Amino acid sequence: MDSEQRPDGPPEAVTSRTAVAAPARILVTYATRHGSTAEVAEWIAQELRDAGAAVDVAPVVAGPRVGDYQAVVLGGPMIMGWHKGARRFLRAHAGTLATVPTALFITAASLTETGEDAIDGIPVVKDPWLVKELRTPGKPTRKERYARPDHYLKAAREAAPDVRPVSVAFFAGSLDLTSMNLLEKLFIMLVIGATPGDARNRKAVRQWARDISPKLHGA
Ligand SMILES: Cc1cc2nc3c(=O)[nH]c(=O)nc-3n(C[C@H](O)[C@H](O)[C@H](O)COP(=O)(O)O)c2cc1C
Repeated sequence: MDSEQRPDGPPEAVTSRTAVAAPARILVTYATRHGSTAEVAEWIAQELRDAGAAVDVAPVVAGPRVGDYQAVVLGGPMIMGWHKGARRFLRAHAGTLATVPTALFITAASLTETGEDAIDGIPVVKDPWLVKELRTPGKPTRKERYARPDHYLKAAREAAPDVRPVSVAFFAGSLDLTSMNLLEKLFIMLVIGATPGDARNRKAVRQWARDISPKLHGA
């Protein structure tokens, strides 16, 4: 039959029914002690939205429904180890997170440059404002050994060995001594040796989000 004679309308009406893919739904979820990691999560979410995804941001304590998303970004600060809320979330949802693209980010006050760009085959990205070279090459101090990327990531790997993140980022955080008790201040001074203040690097955070965006879409 000639297309012009079709009873269901002109050919244009048929050809204009092109399928438009729904934007990927991405969850950005985070743990925080003093709030600064929440803002880092928002910066990441904004960049992913700019790249076309539909993004929800939620703290892990709100219990977001991981199964509703095609990809997940999970972050949290180092608080004498990776924040236990982030670890707990990773462990609880390990089964689902092992089946969707998952990226992790860790905010911190101190990180030792080890020269590696992957840990256990997982790509790692280090914020240049955070990472520090060894003071004496080849002779790491106790603080420098503590702040190694592989040491910081160990808890996450143990919490969910089957989750292989598409990327792990280490970002400079914000250290507010006034909101810490004496024990915490001592830990920061003696174990971390970090300088108080807001060292967050919005540009590095947004760049990482732009870089991982295709991987979260399964590309
Ligand atoms: C009690 C305490 C322990 C911390 N432990 C570490 C640590 O082990 N390594 C590190 O690099 N930073 C450590 N930090 C720095 C935090 O990771 C950093 O300040 C982070 O940005 C805090 O994020 P938040 O504001 O979301 O809680 C610690 C901070 C606090 C308050």
